[in-house]
Amino acid sequence: MKKKTSEEEELFKNWKEKTERLLQKRPERKNRFQTLSNIEVNRVYTEADQPGESPGFPGVFPYARGIHPTMYRSRLWTMRQYAGFGSARETNRRFRYLLEQGQTGLSVAFDLPTQIGYDSDDPMASGEVGKVGVAIDSLKDMEKLFEGIPLDQVSTSMTINAPASVLLAMYIAVGEKQGVSSRELRGTIQNDILKEYIARGTYIFPPKPSMRLITDVFKYCAESVPKWNTISISGYHIREAGSTAVQEVAFTLSDGIAYVEAAIQAGLEVDQFAPRLSFFFNAHNNFFEEIAKFRAARRIWAKIMKERFHASNERSLQLRFHTQTGGSTLTAQQPDNNIVRVTLQALAAVLGGTQSLHTNSRDEALALPTEESARIALRTQQIIAYESGVADTVDPLGGSYYIEALTDQIEQEVWRYIEKIDEMGGAVSAVEQGYMQQEIHRAALETQRRIESGEEIVVGMNRYQIEQETEPQLLRVDPSVEKQQLAQLSELKANRDLLEVEEKLNSLKKAAEGTDNLMPYILDAVRAYCTVGEICHALREVFGEYRAV
Ligand code: 3HC
Repeated sequence: MKKKTSEEEELFKNWKEKTERLLQKRPERKNRFQTLSNIEVNRVYTEADQPGESPGFPGVFPYARGIHPTMYRSRLWTMRQYAGFGSARETNRRFRYLLEQGQTGLSVAFDLPTQIGYDSDDPMASGEVGKVGVAIDSLKDMEKLFEGIPLDQVSTSMTINAPASVLLAMYIAVGEKQGVSSRELRGTIQNDILKEYIARGTYIFPPKPSMRLITDVFKYCAESVPKWNTISISGYHIREAGSTAVQEVAFTLSDGIAYVEAAIQAGLEVDQFAPRLSFFFNAHNNFFEEIAKFRAARRIWAKIMKERFHASNERSLQLRFHTQTGGSTLTAQQPDNNIVRVTLQALAAVLGGTQSLHTNSRDEALALPTEESARIALRTQQIIAYESGVADTVDPLGGSYYIEALTDQIEQEVWRYIEKIDEMGGAVSAVEQGYMQQEIHRAALETQRRIESGEEIVVGMNRYQIEQETEPQLLRVDPSVEKQQLAQLSELKANRDLLEVEEKLNSLKKAAEGTDNLMPYILDAVRAYCTVGEICHALREVFGEYRAV
């Protein structure tokens, strides 16, 4: 720490005395100010609070200030709105609307039956078809989903985990039908099963076969789909389940370590797959903590990949992430207030250096977004990008006494969690012991207590309520969607080559019993119009199903 000059000493003394005098007359609003991760927030940050490590430079290891030297001056973040409901045709319409309105990336929300590997005609799917996302049963639906959207012109994210390999195979097959080689396809599958066990719940198979499917995708894409991001290691849902910002980063990066170790054990060289790992974080309410969280995450991951896994390709060291503004912060009360929350959260993501961003719609605490609400959410990003000026210099808050001190504190606390999880044998075993789940649960209870006691104010919900809430106009998914989907599915099943379907499913089962990479078998099956449910049932027969602890 640089020694203070006598003049600075004098200044510092006067400031301390003046503060003390004022506090006698006007005490502060709270005895203790803290972030949502319970990190104490000082009254003022000065040079004395600066961490030992300098923030460095953008585009240079350890990337605290951003992964590219020029960041948004060269290319804005991708505006990638999560969308999907009803049938493939309806969702295709919403995709094209959002692209016309200026979004620059696609993001598919699948309905629950698709996410847990059931066809729309499975009894388990009843009532859920097309409800929280688009119903996709076969390649036929996937072709409709991307009709009129050239796959060599877009990048597509698919929020799919347990059956991620199946939906990726369908996307590749749609590319083939459009004459687009798999080598040109750009996008991401979420493919992060560990957080499904921890927080989100759309798992199918036990951990071991699930990790095999994931590393099979890593291997297959390294050779045949080189521009594809093979996993989106997610902290978003961990945060939505009630974790703190520190836990969100710590548990996500611990999951990342587990995936890297699994891929290395599967025989892959770290630089062969690590450049195509990606991450997905939440942008929550505490503005500065969120910005510091993203900067800390980048610095920690760079050190993990360099010092623990000895990655040498620079792209293996760069934490690239998508952000979604915090769904759990949206209130059903006074829904227009959510536009302000989302704006602040989106601004935090941008100041934190996100590569891709989804902004929630004001009505998403009540229903899937209307077209108007989705447009306002997209416009929020466009106003930040084109009117606020924050994208015109790299890491504008870099060097701020508060931001750098908070980034450092978050980093220290995250390392402590990572070391603890390492001692437990890594993320898979920590999940099996329920450790992360318990930590999240404890944090969620503490937040609930703070809100119920009024200590934490949620405007419009526990303060500043209004008597007469006007019922906003909400999106209603057409109830006949399920019936139409069932009719289309039975028509598809009646017009397939049944022998070929049988033969493809049997070879997949046989391969699953062995050690082959399953992607080529899954690709063959989807080309023959085997359905998501049929493929997943074939794998269930070999792998069994996961039962939560
Ligand atoms: N200088 C040089 N190059 C630059 C640059 C700059 N300033 N900015 C960008 N680029 C390059 C990049 O390097 C990249 O080139 P590459 O393909 O050769 O690497 C290209 O421009 C595109 O940039 P990005 O890859 O950064 O942007 P993308 O948007 O394509 O990818 C990602 C971003 C985070 C890597 C990717 O994984 C992604 O898009 N993820 C999205 C995940 C997502 O949308 N998830 C939604 C989940 S919804 C959910 O789960 C919630 C629900 O459950 C409720």
